[in-house]
Amino acid sequence: MYNHLLYEVNDGIAVISINNPKSLNALNTETIEELGACINAVAADSSVKGLIITGAGPKSFVAGADISEMVNSGAEKGRSFAMLADKVFSSLEALPIVTIAAVNGYALGGGCELAMACDIRVASDNAIFGQPEVGLGIIPGFGGTQRLARLIGKGRAKELILTTDRINAEEAYRIGLANKVTTKEELLTVCTDMIRRVLKNGPFAVAVAKRCIESGMDMDLQNGLQMEADAFGLCFATDEKMEGMTAFLEKRKANFGGAK
Ligand code: CAA
Repeated sequence: MYNHLLYEVNDGIAVISINNPKSLNALNTETIEELGACINAVAADSSVKGLIITGAGPKSFVAGADISEMVNSGAEKGRSFAMLADKVFSSLEALPIVTIAAVNGYALGGGCELAMACDIRVASDNAIFGQPEVGLGIIPGFGGTQRLARLIGKGRAKELILTTDRINAEEAYRIGLANKVTTKEELLTVCTDMIRRVLKNGPFAVAVAKRCIESGMDMDLQNGLQMEADAFGLCFATDEKMEGMTAFLEKRKANFGGAK
């Protein structure tokens, strides 16, 4: 079905593996287009409750945008390439379900940027993160100058982007770029378990909480708090809220119909 992705769904959890083995899963235009189509398919499939994005093979999550494709691009093509990736990564970020990047090796340039468009990053102990772009005479163009600063702060983002230093999984964890570090062998299990913990909660509440966090990052505090109050009120109109609170009062586990 896809030339550059592997896609499977088990028990409501989808796994997209970027699969360009000859280039350590570098992202060319076709791969990004396929990723966009696959994310749209995930969004349209109500049986998919959580999404993991990883890289095929043992060595790399995604080693960045495809340099061999970009080398002959001019300004207009460079801009449209970035806009394509922005659209796709933003559609990933806007999914109402939980998304986790299972970072199983190199997450460089566009790879680090793809991981940052997921809700959570779990790194295997061989993961390497970095933004090498200025060393190629370009800048991070798939959201790196924006999402990295929002995620780890301006000072650390500038350090990583301007030095192009590569950091390992432990350092990524220390600075908040990775949420968790695990072994290569356990990576997908750890991600799946984390998604299952999310699926025990109200799916509407999860989607609304996610949206409030995302939207709030771009608002001043007063407007963010107002948006949160509105969304809080909206939750009170749901069966989910009745089930969650009734279950607490009845001293039983709430059943929202997600994973057991
Ligand atoms: N684009 C195209 N091809 C790539 C690639 C990339 N980003 N990364 C790796 N490859 C290719 C290599 O050219 C090589 O191909 P050949 O076998 O045909 O020579 C193959 O993958 C294996 O790579 P290496 O032999 O280099 O493997 P290594 O283990 O020695 O090194 C690495 C691994 C450190 C990841 C190294 O490949 C590397 O530095 N890759 C480039 C990383 C990079 O600069 N990424 C940023 C790209 S720009 C970007 O992403 C812009 C943006 O913001 C979107």
